[in-house]
Amino acid sequence: MKQANANEKSIEGVLDQQETLLIVDDEAAIRKLLCQKLSREGYRCEEADAAEQVLNTLATSPIALVILDIKMPGKSGIELLPEIKSGYPDTAVIMATAVTDVNVAIQCLKQGADDYLCKPFNLEELSLAVQRALEKRRLKLEIREYQQFLEEKVEEQTGEIRKLFLGAIEALVSALEAKDKYTGGHSRRVTEIALAIGNELGLSIQDMEDLRWGSLLHDVGKIAIDQLIQNKPGKLTSEEYEHIMTHSRIGADIVRPVVNGKTVEIIEHHHDHYDGSGLHQVVAGNDIPLGARILAVADALDAMTSDRPYRSAMSITKAIDGIKRCAGTQFDPDVVTAFLKTKTAETATK
Ligand SMILES: [Fe+2]
Repeated sequence: MKQANANEKSIEGVLDQQETLLIVDDEAAIRKLLCQKLSREGYRCEEADAAEQVLNTLATSPIALVILDIKMPGKSGIELLPEIKSGYPDTAVIMATAVTDVNVAIQCLKQGADDYLCKPFNLEELSLAVQRALEKRRLKLEIREYQQFLEEKVEEQTGEIRKLFLGAIEALVSALEAKDKYTGGHSRRVTEIALAIGNELGLSIQDMEDLRWGSLLHDVGKIAIDQLIQNKPGKLTSEEYEHIMTHSRIGADIVRPVVNGKTVEIIEHHHDHYDGSGLHQVVAGNDIPLGARILAVADALDAMTSDRPYRSAMSITKAIDGIKRCAGTQFDPDVVTAFLKTKTAETATK
């Protein structure tokens, strides 16, 4: 509602101003006559006698409408019209000429002129043409402002809905993790480590946001994984391992409708190995999205330092050594270097 008022205000702002007209004619007497008539009707009038002056005036003052003489020394009105229309599409243009040539009129209208008047001027006709052209311009501006307002509103509501969905999925991840004594709080810890690495690598605000959501939701696909297999205390068979690893693709499919493509890719590729040796991997090296390469390191660190059904937690220094050893094979070496500069790694190795 607040936004609606702001928008209404801005429409009024544009439309309530006293409109300025630019009268273009090489004859001073004609300019004076038109200025007198239109000033009496409440418009502010400026004058120009040649193309250069027209473009200068348009560049420096907000002109609502130009009355443009076709025949002028130097650049003609017909030549000037497309320049005005492309540079100042919100400025209305009425063409004026002594030549009562229908083809010229059609050409001008095709090039965007709002109307066409013949000289000598009938001042009442001129006045009506100005009113009509300004009314048309006013409607055009109002429609555009309203469209912008609607677009902003839709964007705002889409953002709200997206936030609600993501919140729900995040809650689902937390619920999943809470159910499992081995993974409680895993996603939040992984997110913290991943963002620290992203920060170290100088990621943009948008990339950091994608990394945040990718990290928070990276294991949502585990909802489809058999709990007995996931919590199996012994060594997994290759079929069981394959089954667990499907969570990357399943997770990507779950969040696809509510997050952007980059976030989906981060989730989809978070178990890819830098050297391409991961299970069913289709990309390798720097073709793996950077967010996924960062997440892989953060995920591995938290997994190694947490208890698992088949082993107890490793010390953080041991886990960091493990990550260092896998730089260039499982992990992107640049990401490992950035990770080693983060607070988590620094305080652990001190
Ligand atoms: Fe995972």
